[in-house]
Amino acid sequence: MNSPQKQARFHYQDLGPASSNSRDEILAGLQETRKRISPKYFYDDTGSLLFEEITRQPEYYPTRTERRILSEHASDMATAIGTGTVLMEPGAGSCEKIRLLLDALKPAAYVPMDIAGEFLQRSASGLQREFPWLRIAALRADFAAMPSLPADLPAGPRTLFYPGSTLGNFSPLQATGFLRHAKRLVGTEGKLLIGIDLHKDRAILDRAYNDRAGVTARFNLNALEHLNRILPADFRTQQFQHLAFYNDTCQRIEMYLESRIEQTVIAAGKRIHFLAGERIHTEISCKYSLESFTALAAAAGLHVRECWRDGDSLFAVFLLSAGSC
Ligand SMILES: C[S@@+](CC[C@H](N)C(=O)[O-])C[C@H]1O[C@@H](n2cnc3c(N)ncnc32)[C@H](O)[C@@H]1O
Repeated sequence: MNSPQKQARFHYQDLGPASSNSRDEILAGLQETRKRISPKYFYDDTGSLLFEEITRQPEYYPTRTERRILSEHASDMATAIGTGTVLMEPGAGSCEKIRLLLDALKPAAYVPMDIAGEFLQRSASGLQREFPWLRIAALRADFAAMPSLPADLPAGPRTLFYPGSTLGNFSPLQATGFLRHAKRLVGTEGKLLIGIDLHKDRAILDRAYNDRAGVTARFNLNALEHLNRILPADFRTQQFQHLAFYNDTCQRIEMYLESRIEQTVIAAGKRIHFLAGERIHTEISCKYSLESFTALAAAAGLHVRECWRDGDSLFAVFLLSAGSC
C-alpha cells in the first residue's frame, strides 16, 4: 500500500496498517469478555479534528501547558539536543507543537508519523509551506509497530519527539516496550524528548476528560462511526454514552463507551451483544510523577538528561538518552 507523492522537499508514504488487519484486531477486541478497542480508532479525519477541538477546551490543560513549556525552553532544548538531527514524531497529528522548536532545532529532516493519513498529509504539507527550508518525510504508520525510516534520510544523530503525553495511552509495561524500541531507532547518540502528564488533583483530571461542551464525549463516540466504516458495523452512537474517570489504584484516566440499553450490533458479519451498562474500553491515560517516569525510562535503558516543568507541575517534558549519565 505504498503511495509516495513528491513535492520539492516533501514526501508522503503510506505504510499501513492494511484495513483487513484493523478489522481482525477490532473484532478480536469486541469479542473479549471485557470489550475493548485501541485508541488509534479514535483517529479518522473527524476524530483528528475533534481532538484538536478538545485541545482548545478550557478544562483541557495538557496542550496549553506543554506548549508553554516548549516555547519557554526551546533554546535550552536545542542546546541539549543539538542542531542538524533527524527529528521523528510519532502521533504528530496537526504538527503544531514541532513549530515551537523548529527555528531553534534546525533539524536536517522531520519525520512525522500518524495513523490518520489524510490529516497528517494536510498538516505536514501546511508545515512545509510555513518552513520551506525543512525536509519532511511524512509517514502514515502505526507507531506501535515503529516502522523503519526511509532509507534516503540524512545520516547523523536522531531525535524522537513524542509530545501530548501520548505515551500515557500505553500501560507502563507497553510504554517500556515502546521506549526500548524508540531507543533502538535513535541509536546510542540519539535523544528522546517526551511530554508526560503528571499526577494532580483528581478533580482537575476528571474535568479535563469531561469538558462542559461535550467535545471529548463526541470524540469518544466518533470511534463507533469509524468502526461502522472499517468493519463495517451498525453501531448507533445515540445508544452509547461517554464515560471517563480517574482510577486512583492504577493512576490513570480510563475512558469507555457504555451501552445505554441491551442491544446487538452486527460487526463484520458477527453479532456482538451488549447488556445495558456494558462498556467498551477505549483509552487509558497514565499519569506519572518525576520519579515514576524516571524509573520507567530506566527500565527501558534510558536516562533522564533534563526535565522542564510548568510552575504548577501539571506537565513535564523529559529529555532522555541512551548513553550513561
Ligand atoms: C493524543 S493525540 C496527540 C497529538 C499531538 N502529538 C499532540 O501532542 O497534541 C495522539 C496522536 O497520535 C495518533 N495516533 C494514535 N495512535 C496511533 C498509532 N497507533 N500509530 C500512529 N499514530 C497514532 C493520533 O492520530 C493523534 O494524532
